[in-house]
Amino acid sequence: MALSITVNAERREISATPDTPLLYVLTNELKLTGPRFGCGLAQCGSCSVLVDGVERRACVTPVAAVAGRAITTLEGLPAWHAGQTGAKTPPAMHPLQQALIDEQALQCGYCYNGMIIKGAELLSKTPDPTDAQIRKAMNGHLCRCGTYPRIIKAIHRAARLMAGQRT
Ligand code: FES
Ligand code: FES
Repeated sequence: MALSITVNAERREISATPDTPLLYVLTNELKLTGPRFGCGLAQCGSCSVLVDGVERRACVTPVAAVAGRAITTLEGLPAWHAGQTGAKTPPAMHPLQQALIDEQALQCGYCYNGMIIKGAELLSKTPDPTDAQIRKAMNGHLCRCGTYPRIIKAIHRAARLMAGQRT
């Protein structure tokens, strides 16, 4: 029997077997380019998505485990954010995406997906996180370019943007 999953608020019928990793379905079948294959072992975070608002490693999540849940990828993050804030129109980018640009936080960008997904989850629960809270939340998201200090700055900047304050 064909499985269906809900990705970025859209119900999608898929042909993959139930034990197929969610990441393969998102990238190979649904052609989404936000989540990325890094380690394939739940170690780096580059494949992360939100499932019912909680970050999850798509590389080790069987697709059947998330049937009936709300899956949000990087592509759907602005709309997810609008849903969180009650805004009628989604912004072009999640505030953390804007903040990462403003802080020139990224280099090769390979970790970008996971950093944004995890950072967005953190900010949705903790609107004004401390350095320690950011470090704890982002622990487990690897940046081979070593941009961690700028990512922390960007998360603080995003928190201010979300609070409507000047940066
Ligand atoms: S590819 Fe999934 S955590 Fe590294
Ligand atoms: S910017 Fe290159 S891995 Fe993070």
